[in-house]
Amino acid sequence: MLNIIIIIITFFLITIDYVDSQTELTLPTLPYAYNALEPVLSEYLMRLHHDKHFQMYTNKSNIILKKMFTDTQSDNKLKEIVKQPIEIILTQLEYLPHQYQLSLRYNGGGYFNHKLFFSMLKTPTSTVDENKPIGPLLEAIEKNFGSFDKFKQLFSSASYEFFGSGWIWLYIDAQTKRLILNFTVNQDNPIMYDKNHIILLCIDLWEHAYYPVYENRRNEYIENFWRIINWSFVNQLYIEGQIKRSDL
Ligand SMILES: *[C@@H]1O[C@H](CO)[C@@H](O)[C@H](O)[C@H]1NC(C)=O
Ligand SMILES: *[C@@H]1O[C@H](CO)[C@@H](O)[C@H](O)[C@H]1NC(C)=O
Ligand SMILES: *[C@@H]1O[C@H](CO)[C@@H](O)[C@H](O)[C@H]1NC(C)=O
Ligand SMILES: [Fe+2]
Repeated sequence: MLNIIIIIITFFLITIDYVDSQTELTLPTLPYAYNALEPVLSEYLMRLHHDKHFQMYTNKSNIILKKMFTDTQSDNKLKEIVKQPIEIILTQLEYLPHQYQLSLRYNGGGYFNHKLFFSMLKTPTSTVDENKPIGPLLEAIEKNFGSFDKFKQLFSSASYEFFGSGWIWLYIDAQTKRLILNFTVNQDNPIMYDKNHIILLCIDLWEHAYYPVYENRRNEYIENFWRIINWSFVNQLYIEGQIKRSDL
């Protein structure tokens, strides 16, 4: 009997705690060792990118989310929004007061994008050609772009031609349901433009993502990126996307 009472009280405490606080982001650990992507991305680069840059986006997002939650000017709608998972908050940026909107777009976007990016990498193959997509994803790429080589060429060109800090994305377009290649600037991402886009693949084109290894040779980073994509992971995103959207 006492056990049951304790369980019930604990349950209420957890519930109250949940209801009474904003989302708090935590820095995910890498699903591989810091040196696992060598020589494509060095251990030094990975430590800087993950432990410093990604950590900073995490910290700053938490500060903004907490501020929004504790701001006496914040209404209930806003408090409800900041309790949502970050991938939901990022689709509702237009409802945030302007003093928070830009910094959460930047830091929350940075959090979401890096979480995804680091999860889709793996130990490099020795050549670019050895690393190929699999399963339903491969079929979708062939159907939408003609062949995997053609897709690779288009994704790489989009990356070579992009200027400044930003990302290149492959996603299932919410409306046309076709695979689309597109860019975003800064830490924007496709779900900020339409919450129903299904993101599949991305490359971080910020200087911090390659400079310690490639310096000014950004094209070399883009070429080597094809060796470290975990296609099983990306294929899984494609399959989960189809389950999420039964109309695809
Ligand atoms: C982030 O916050 C943690 C804990 O609050 C702190 O130890 C760390 O130095 C901060 N890092 C950055 C990059 O802001
Ligand atoms: C490409 O992304 C930009 C934002 O970076 C967006 O405004 C535009 O609508 C997108 N284009 C397509 C075809 O989805
Ligand atoms: C690639 O991703 C899959 C699916 O998430 C995971 O099970 C696997 O361990 C990853 N492979 C490598 C080599 O990291
Ligand atoms: Fe980055």
